[in-house]
Amino acid sequence: MRTSTKLVQLGVGKDPTGAISFPVYQTSTFRHPSFGESTGYDYSRSGNPTRQVLEEGIAELEAGVKGFACASGMAALTSLLLLFQRGDHLIVTEDLYGGTFRLLDKVFLRFGLEATFIDTSDLDQVRRAMQNNTRAILLETPTNPLLKVADIAKISEICRAHNALTIVDNTFMTPYLQKPIALGADIVVYSATKFMSGHNDVVAGLVVIKDEKLAERFGFVQNSVGAVLGPQDSWLVLRGMKTLGIRLDRQNRNAGILARWLSNHAAIKRVFYPGLETHPGYRLLKEKTGGFGAMISFEVPSKSLAIKVLNSVRLISYAESLGGVETLITFPAYQTHADMDPAARERMGINDGLLRLSVGIEDADDLLADLEQALEGWEAVV
Ligand SMILES: Cc1ncc(COP(=O)(O)O)c(C=O)c1O
Repeated sequence: MRTSTKLVQLGVGKDPTGAISFPVYQTSTFRHPSFGESTGYDYSRSGNPTRQVLEEGIAELEAGVKGFACASGMAALTSLLLLFQRGDHLIVTEDLYGGTFRLLDKVFLRFGLEATFIDTSDLDQVRRAMQNNTRAILLETPTNPLLKVADIAKISEICRAHNALTIVDNTFMTPYLQKPIALGADIVVYSATKFMSGHNDVVAGLVVIKDEKLAERFGFVQNSVGAVLGPQDSWLVLRGMKTLGIRLDRQNRNAGILARWLSNHAAIKRVFYPGLETHPGYRLLKEKTGGFGAMISFEVPSKSLAIKVLNSVRLISYAESLGGVETLITFPAYQTHADMDPAARERMGINDGLLRLSVGIEDADDLLADLEQALEGWEAVV
């Protein structure tokens, strides 16, 4: 069965009542039939039917052995990092989501975890960063916000040779476009707040694990830490995922149109979108994935012009987040990546002229008209 069909059918036929929309089991605890007997559920932190349908669904979509639904993408990443211990070394994508950088830099490094931040689109840097105590690589591809593309299959091979795990944050792509486990990764993690749920109405995280033993260890952490997704939010994610296929088809198409238009606009210095043939990751994504995604970053010549664009957009919302049906624009250096060292940010290209678009499902002509009017008179501002 194709991924788009599996997505639509999530939860169908799973409830004994025959409900097409799997119900929200809004309960914290479950009554036991008698001593020593169980319905399979006892307490909702350890397991809840609505969350379980989501967890089984995502595991099947990614072809992993087990899925887990967490209270947020950061809760998922935190629980994952708790699989490691003092003295363990991780290799991490340098321009990854600023919150993940902050979690490592300000929280886990305090507990003795070590991390090297590199450009994971460069395999030589990956090889060079390997140490005797390297236990995993945590990568985003395409990256946030510079849309650099890493070769999951080749990185997984390098990691296997060093007995290290490959963990992919697949938030930008989803299983509809890219399946990291099929490409060789061991763990996939999501901010399901984004494309997965798709309507900017819920904060959630998902994890899928390939190996049974590792899944057991993660299940222990999830239950011990308790950063689980509630039943109502699990239902919202399930409901959103049903339309992931058609949403992404439209978002991909819109993003391609906007990226090409921006590339031809005199005010724009650079456009970062892996669906442009000039992008270094274009061929790899074309070969290995079902599309290029709906995230575009672009650079304008000055901070004042970036601010003018943010203040002038009308249809597009100036808001932090991504992946929903509504188009959003963000200023990474001052929002998502504000916690990064300014010098490192500047070196990577996350500068004061860089804006990031999460392209929604509106009519592309309306989006273009909005960008056009927001850029009007740009020569006077630069
Ligand atoms: C790539 C990526 N990973 C993880 C996260 C964190 O997810 P959440 O905001 O759901 O905690 C985000 C949030 O923006 C993200 O963009």
